[in-house]
Amino acid sequence: MRIVSGMRPTGKLHLGHYLGVLKNWIALQNDNDCRFFVADWHALSTSYEEKLNLRQLGRDLVKDWIAAGIDPERSTLFVQSAIKEHAELYVLLNMVTPLGWLERNPTYKDQLEQMRHKEIHTAGFLTYPVLQAADIILYGAEGVPIGEDQRPHLEITREIVRRFHHLFGCEIFKEPKEMLTPTSRLPGLDGRKMSKSYDNAIFLSDTTDEVWQKLRVAKTDPQRVRRNDPGDPDVCLVFDYHKALTDDATVQKIDADCRAGAIGCIDCKKICAASIERLLEPMRQRRADLDDDKIDAIVEAGNAAAKEEAGATMQRVNDAVFEISCHT
Ligand code: TRP
Ligand code: SF4
Repeated sequence: MRIVSGMRPTGKLHLGHYLGVLKNWIALQNDNDCRFFVADWHALSTSYEEKLNLRQLGRDLVKDWIAAGIDPERSTLFVQSAIKEHAELYVLLNMVTPLGWLERNPTYKDQLEQMRHKEIHTAGFLTYPVLQAADIILYGAEGVPIGEDQRPHLEITREIVRRFHHLFGCEIFKEPKEMLTPTSRLPGLDGRKMSKSYDNAIFLSDTTDEVWQKLRVAKTDPQRVRRNDPGDPDVCLVFDYHKALTDDATVQKIDADCRAGAIGCIDCKKICAASIERLLEPMRQRRADLDDDKIDAIVEAGNAAAKEEAGATMQRVNDAVFEISCHT
């Protein structure tokens, strides 16, 4: 299946990103034709005031992907802003997209609310889903792995496809299906959602020592004062980490031992740290082989491949729009 998905370059990836998104991308590339891209124009729609170095953030993002197991030999990796066809198609789609679809978008309304501290009453932010539609249909995506919050954007994409086909009498695009990835339930180290801005995240690029320093001070069941006090793993966030990263048999044993007061929290955290290390150590090894030049070369090759495909799509689109002639 042809698969397209993007991520905004907003900083280092953490365990929540891995379990919620990347793990799924990595699995998909085994038997699908995948394109993953750095959605830097989309990042600008909410962060245009922040003077971010989006070039470097994009590189770092791709480095995180490859370290985590995305294979540039199998998947095409590219940068959205390098492929001008996204902007070209976005212009055309904007011409046919009713404002009502965008204004009614529940994700749009949620985000305006959540990002009150930012001034995002902009054309760029309102039309975010139009750009996303362009990203997807330029490459004939059949499946789009997304989280729950992105469902309305996929629905708008399909509506735009149908409207375009109806208006220009051509069946150029595919209607993409959403591939819903369950949102990662892994909380941050303070129990809130894991996020760089809350300073509660374990990053994929953390060292062994950084992981342990963060885990060591994480809150556990507050009822446990002495080592053999019975505990309740259900109120302990370390146990959430175990459920996400430790093998089932060990998780069951920790559950029982915690309730019986038979394991101390430090020992339990050591097992947890080992589970995290099992995941991060291979990433560190792959990362050690990567530098900015290698990433740039990989992205340049991906950009070239993407550009060719996007160019071919735009040729058909422009014929349909400007000559009302179909070559489908
Ligand atoms: N909007 C997506 C997000 O915030 C990122 C994105 C941009 C995307 N274009 C896309 C995802 C196309 C899938 C397909 O997570
Ligand atoms: Fe949490 Fe483990 Fe301590 Fe139980 S033993 S409270 S699960 S850290």
